[in-house]
Amino acid sequence: MKPGQMRPDQIEPGQIKPGQIKSVGIAGSGMMGAGIAEVAAKAGFEVIVRGRSESSAGAVLLRLDKSLAFQVDKGNLSRDEADETLGRVRTTTDLEDLELCGIVVESVVEDLEVKRQLLRELDLICGEETILATNTSTLPVIDLAMSTHRPDRVLGVHFFNPAPRMPLVEVVPALTTSDGTVATALQFALDLGKDPVTVKDNAGFIVNALLFPYLNNAVRMLESSIASKEDIDTAMRGGCGYPMGPLELLDLVGLDTSLAILQALEEERHEPCCAPAPLLKRMVTAQHLGRKVGQGFYTYPPTV
Ligand SMILES: NC(=O)c1ccc[n+]([C@@H]2O[C@H](COP(=O)([O-])OP(=O)(O)OC[C@H]3O[C@@H](n4cnc5c(N)ncnc54)[C@H](O)[C@@H]3O)[C@@H](O)[C@H]2O)c1
Repeated sequence: MKPGQMRPDQIEPGQIKPGQIKSVGIAGSGMMGAGIAEVAAKAGFEVIVRGRSESSAGAVLLRLDKSLAFQVDKGNLSRDEADETLGRVRTTTDLEDLELCGIVVESVVEDLEVKRQLLRELDLICGEETILATNTSTLPVIDLAMSTHRPDRVLGVHFFNPAPRMPLVEVVPALTTSDGTVATALQFALDLGKDPVTVKDNAGFIVNALLFPYLNNAVRMLESSIASKEDIDTAMRGGCGYPMGPLELLDLVGLDTSLAILQALEEERHEPCCAPAPLLKRMVTAQHLGRKVGQGFYTYPPTV
């Protein structure tokens, strides 16, 4: 059977079936929330993004408009397609507006308590069939599933940054997630034009479990003055063929998110390679969070 297909005996009552999702709720209007909104709207889904303030929710539309205009200028999208895509995205500050979505993807700050509370609220608000997905990078999906009364309809659907360009989605069933929910989520990822993989609920899933010890070591190398940041990045681009150096990549991910990822890896694995480099912690304390604030290992021009 292809990913996303399910046998009739796998379909459980109260469960949305593969291919039946029409509307996508996104809770969180940061970098990833905005990117996922673009992916879903371009794929033809009705999208509603919930931000905590009018300004953060509005910024999603500004970002989307800018991204679509860029694609039109490049000749990758027609003006009509861009307008239609924009027309499929609404924003709100009211979580209750996500009630009728087929799937809600939470993409708020990488903090277990914040996400647990959000899942509790979404569980009370959303219809019985709604799948609650988390875009967490490392946190235990089971903890989020067990915050709800629908642990069979909660799973990880982990996008990569920038979401519109990165083809991978990690689909992460918790111990409680039903086979039907996994099948529907896999089909959803395929309908978004992504290449999904399935991975057990373990800290960092596949990509971050392998990637972050390496990124952390790069910060330690910089901290030990073994090489300059530019030379570390140049070495890994030129020597390994990576599209970005590790410090550039940390700036893209966000240093606060990166620190939270390493802390979650360390908590589960107790391995020295996952203990966050002191420099990373200090940069987060200094609010040098990377590209999204204009200052990380490097300095960046302001974004929308
Ligand atoms: N940055 C990446 O490269 C990347 C990639 C994949 C997944 N993720 C995951 O996506 C999620 C969001 O990351 P991001 O990079 O978009 O971060 P971001 O800093 O750009 O956005 C964080 C969002 O969380 C909201 N938020 C902050 N504190 C909150 C609170 N107390 N209650 C409710 N909302 C709160 C903010 O308003 C903002 O909308 C995280 O779980 C992260 O691990 C990030």
